[in-house]
Amino acid sequence: MTPKKSKPVKKSAPAKSNPPVKKEASATGAEKAKKTYALVRGMHDVLPKEEKFWKRFYHGVESVADYFQFGRIETPVLEEAGLYIRSVGKGTDIIDKEMYVFEDKDGSKLAMRPEATAGLARAFISNGLWNLSQPVKVWCWESMFRHDRPQAGRYREHHQVDFEVYGIKDPAIDAELIVAAYSLYQDLGLPVEIRLNSVGTPAERARYVEELTSYYRQKRSYLCEDCRVRLTKNPLRLLDCKNEQCLPIRDEAPQILDWLDEESKKYFMKIVEYLDAVSIPYTLAPYLVRGLDYYTGVVFEFYTLSETETTPEGVKTESQQSALGGGGRYDLLVEELGGRPTPAVGFGLGVERAIMALEQYQRKNHLVEPEPVYDIYFAQLGEEAKRQGLKMLMEMRKGGLKIAFNFAKGSLKAQLEAANNIKVPYVVILGQKEVQDETVIIRDMESGVQEIVGHKKLEATIKKKLGRV
Ligand code: HAM
Repeated sequence: MTPKKSKPVKKSAPAKSNPPVKKEASATGAEKAKKTYALVRGMHDVLPKEEKFWKRFYHGVESVADYFQFGRIETPVLEEAGLYIRSVGKGTDIIDKEMYVFEDKDGSKLAMRPEATAGLARAFISNGLWNLSQPVKVWCWESMFRHDRPQAGRYREHHQVDFEVYGIKDPAIDAELIVAAYSLYQDLGLPVEIRLNSVGTPAERARYVEELTSYYRQKRSYLCEDCRVRLTKNPLRLLDCKNEQCLPIRDEAPQILDWLDEESKKYFMKIVEYLDAVSIPYTLAPYLVRGLDYYTGVVFEFYTLSETETTPEGVKTESQQSALGGGGRYDLLVEELGGRPTPAVGFGLGVERAIMALEQYQRKNHLVEPEPVYDIYFAQLGEEAKRQGLKMLMEMRKGGLKIAFNFAKGSLKAQLEAANNIKVPYVVILGQKEVQDETVIIRDMESGVQEIVGHKKLEATIKKKLGRV
C-alpha cells in the first residue's frame, strides 16, 4: 500500500539487526542485486516452528465456535475511516494515534482494520442479518493494524479471534460468551483469569464521569502530562493510565459500580452469579474501562493467572502485563451505525499474545508441545522408487495413513535415522529390487524384523499392524 496524503506518520528508526536500506534509484545493477529488504517495523513473520501453536489455537477456536454455534464471518481489511471513528471514538488511542488511514484513488478516506467489532456491526447491517432468528452469533479470525510503539507482544499487525452475539440482552448470554472465551484458553492449556467491571449506560457513565472529573481536577498537579490532556479530552481514559505517578491517584478514585442504577447493578450481579456457578476464576476490576468507547455495560479482560500479583497481605493486584483479550456489551453501536436497535456483546482475543503466553507457560512448567505423530516412514532408494513412491503416498494418504518421508534423502541409513528420530513404529522401504518385484519391505522399528509384502497389500497390512481393521 502506498498511502497518498495520509496523516503524517512518525518515521521509525530501522530495527537494529537490519542492514541500512539503500535507495533503489541510486543503486548500480550489482548493488540492486545485493539489496535486502527489511521487515517493516512492527510487522512479524510466523515461522514453521511456531505454526504448531497457531494451528492448535485455530483448531481450538473452530471447535469452540462450533460447540457454541457461532458462524464464521469475514470482513475486508479496508473500511471507511469514519466507521471506526464513529464506533471506537475520538479521544481513544486507536483513533487518535494508531489507525492506518489513507486517501484512496477516488479521494475517499479509508482505514485498515484496527479492530473487528465496528466492521462486523457494519456487516450485520449491510447484509440484513437482523432478519435471521436472534441471537445472531458470529466469529472471525483476522489481522488488525495499529500503528503502536512495537514491543514484545505488541505489533503493528496482529491477529484477533472475535466472537460477537447480536440481538439479545440477557446476562446469561454475556456469561455464555465469557465461558466460550475461557474454554478457548482452557483447550489451549493456558490458565487465565477474568477481570470484570461495568461501564454502565451512557447516562450512568455521564454522571460517573462528572464525579471522576471533579476528583481528578483536584489532583491535576500530580498527574502525568497525558492524563492532563485526558482530563479535558476523555476523562474515562484516566483510568487506563499505567504511569507510576498516576496509579495511587486512580486507586482512590470513585468507582463506576457505585454510580450504576439498580437495574444495571442487578444485571451485572447476575453475570457474576453465572460465573460463580461454573467456578470460573474472576476478579472485580473497578477501574477497568477498556480503550474503546462503544461499550455500554459489562466489560472484561483476560490475563494469564501467573500475571496476577498477590500482595504480602494476600490481596490480588492488577499486574502491569498486557491483556490477552477483552470485550464487553455494546448495545447502542448497531443503531448508531444506522441499523435497527440491536443489543450486542462480544470479545476479541489476541492470537500472538495467547501464543506467546502459552510458550512462556510451557517453558516455565517444562511442558513440551506435542510433535505430529506419523504412522509410518516411507523410505525410497533410487529414481524409479521415488516415482512409484509418490503414487503410493497419494494412495495411502487417501486411505487415512499419516506418512513421513523425505525425497531429498538418498541413503537408507539416513532415512532410517530420520524414522527413528520421529519414533514411527514402521518403515516402508522401496528399493530398486522391490520396484521390479512390485513389493515393499516393512520394517518393525522396535524389533528390527522385516517382511516383504506386495504393493497391493501394503495399505491393508499396515492398517492391520496398527490395529485399524
Ligand atoms: P482490544 O482490547 O483493543 O479489543 O483488543 C483485543 C486484544 O487484541 C487485546 O487484549 C490484545 O490481546 C490484542 N491486541 C491489541 N492490540 C495489539 C497489538 N498491537 N499487538 C498484539 N496484540 C494486540 C478490541 O479490539 C475489541 N474489538 C474487542 C471486542 C470485540 N469487544 C467487543 N467485541
